[in-house]
Amino acid sequence: MRALPGARWKVTCAVCAVLCIARDQCWRLAASTSALSFSCRGAPSGAPRAPRPQRRRPRGRRPKGRQTSAAPNSAAEARRCAPPAPAFIPGLVRPEAIDVGELNASGDLVLVDKTSDLEAVVRWISGGGSALVVDHWRDLERCRAAVLKPLRRSPANAQEAERCRTLKKTLSDRLLGPVADGRIDLQGAPRADFLLTLYGDLFGSGRRFALPSGVLMGLGNAWQYFEGGVRFSFLAPPVLSQPLRPFYGVYAYPHPVTHFEMLIEWLQNCSRLGPQRAPQWALDLGTGCGVVALLLRQIARIPHVVATDISPNAVYGAQEEMKRQDQDIEVVYSDLFEGLGGRRFDVVVFNPPWLPLPKPSASEPPRTVLDLGNFYSPDLFERFFDNLHHVLNPGGRAVVLFSNHATSRGYVDKHPFETALGRGASARSARSKHLQVEKVPCLAFFLGFLICRRNKKV
Ligand SMILES: *[C@@H]1O[C@H](CO)[C@@H](O)[C@H](O)[C@H]1NC(C)=O
Ligand SMILES: *[C@@H]1O[C@H](CO)[C@@H](O)[C@H](O)[C@H]1NC(C)=O
Repeated sequence: MRALPGARWKVTCAVCAVLCIARDQCWRLAASTSALSFSCRGAPSGAPRAPRPQRRRPRGRRPKGRQTSAAPNSAAEARRCAPPAPAFIPGLVRPEAIDVGELNASGDLVLVDKTSDLEAVVRWISGGGSALVVDHWRDLERCRAAVLKPLRRSPANAQEAERCRTLKKTLSDRLLGPVADGRIDLQGAPRADFLLTLYGDLFGSGRRFALPSGVLMGLGNAWQYFEGGVRFSFLAPPVLSQPLRPFYGVYAYPHPVTHFEMLIEWLQNCSRLGPQRAPQWALDLGTGCGVVALLLRQIARIPHVVATDISPNAVYGAQEEMKRQDQDIEVVYSDLFEGLGGRRFDVVVFNPPWLPLPKPSASEPPRTVLDLGNFYSPDLFERFFDNLHHVLNPGGRAVVLFSNHATSRGYVDKHPFETALGRGASARSARSKHLQVEKVPCLAFFLGFLICRRNKKV
C-alpha cells in the first residue's frame, strides 16, 4: 500500500466533506474510489477527520416482566418494554455529588433562576464561582449555552482541542443542578433514572446535593438511550434483533463502521470452519455494551464466550444485557487479562479506544475508569501484546480493531500498535517467539484490524 500524496488527500477530503454529511458513507465512498489507495499506517498529517468510533453512553437494567423474544419494532415500543432503573447498586462509578450546604458555606455559590442576569452569572463562573440553577431546566440550558459560547469555534489543532475540552469541562462543572429522590429536581428536566441506581444512598438523608450540568445532561441522554434501546439495524436480522440497552458510562455506536463490518465478515468466515477447526472459546476484551460478545455468539456461533471490562458499570450493564437477551455469556471484571484466572481462548477480539488518555493537568479534574472506554492509557497496547500469548491457545487468533484517528489528528506521532510492537529488540524477539502478526486487512486508510496468531510450538 502506498501513501497518498497530500494534495490529493485534501481534494478528496474536501469532496467528502461536501458530499458526506453521513460520515460513514464518506469513508465508503473514499474506499471505493479506484484512483485512491490507502495506507493502514501513518496517514498523511492533515488527513481528514475519522468517524468517532463509539459514542459514549451508558448502559442497562433488569427486565420487570420477561421481554418477548420478538424485537420491539419501534422506539416507542422499546421504551414501553424498558425495564425500570434498579435501586442503588454500590460499587458503580459515578461522578461526584456536590453537597450544596458545604459549597454555600464556602461563599462560592450563587443561585440562578429565570430572573438572573446571565452575563453576570457567566462572569461569576469564569471567575471561579459556582452557580446552582433552582427552578427550571431551561434556565440551566440557557446558562450553560452562555457559559460555553466562547468555546464554540472549532479548534485549530489537537492541543487546542484538548485545551478547549478541559476548559469546557471546568466551566460546565461549576454550573450545577439539584438532584433529589432519584431525579433532576428542576421543572421540565429530562428523566435520568440512573440517578436512583448510582446515587440511591444519598437520597433521603436530608442533605441537598447537586451535580454539574454536563453530568446531568449525560445522565439524561444515557437514560434516553437505555429506554429507547440502541438498534444495530445495519446488521441483518436475526443477529442483534433486540435493541441493546447501554448502562450509564458505556458507549454504543450503532452505525456501520468499516472495521466493524470487516470483523463481521471475519466472524462469518469463522462460522464456516469445519467442526475440527471451529473455535470453542472466545474472549471479548473490553466489551462495553456487549456487542462484540453477542456477535461472537450469534455470528461466529462460538459456544463459550467470555466478555470483560475494566469499568464496573460496563460489567454490570453487560451482565444485565446478557440476561435480557437470554445469552449464556459470562461477563467478568478484568483489567486486560488479569481477571481471567489463567483461562485460554481460541479467539480474542479487542476493540480498543482510539484516543490517548490526555496527560493529567492541574486544572483538570481526575479521570475515572469510565474514561477508559474512550481513551487508552499509555501502556495499554504494550501490556496487551506482551501478555496476549498467555491467553491464546496454540494456533489461536486475536483480532485487534484499530484506527489511525489519533495519528491523523496529531494526538500521537506514531500509531500505538507500532510503538508497542516495535519496542526494544529483545522484547520483540520474545514476543515473536510466541506470536506472529498475520495480516492487516483494511478497507480505508485509517481503519482495519490486526490479526495475531499464537504459534503452535515454541
Ligand atoms: C446559603 O447560605 C445562606 C447564608 O448562610 C442562606 O441564607 C441560604 O439559604 C443558603 N442557600 C442555599 C442554597 O443553601
Ligand atoms: C473471508 O473469507 C473470504 C473467502 O475465503 C476471503 O476472501 C475474505 O478475505 C475473508 N474475510 C476476512 C475479513 O478475513
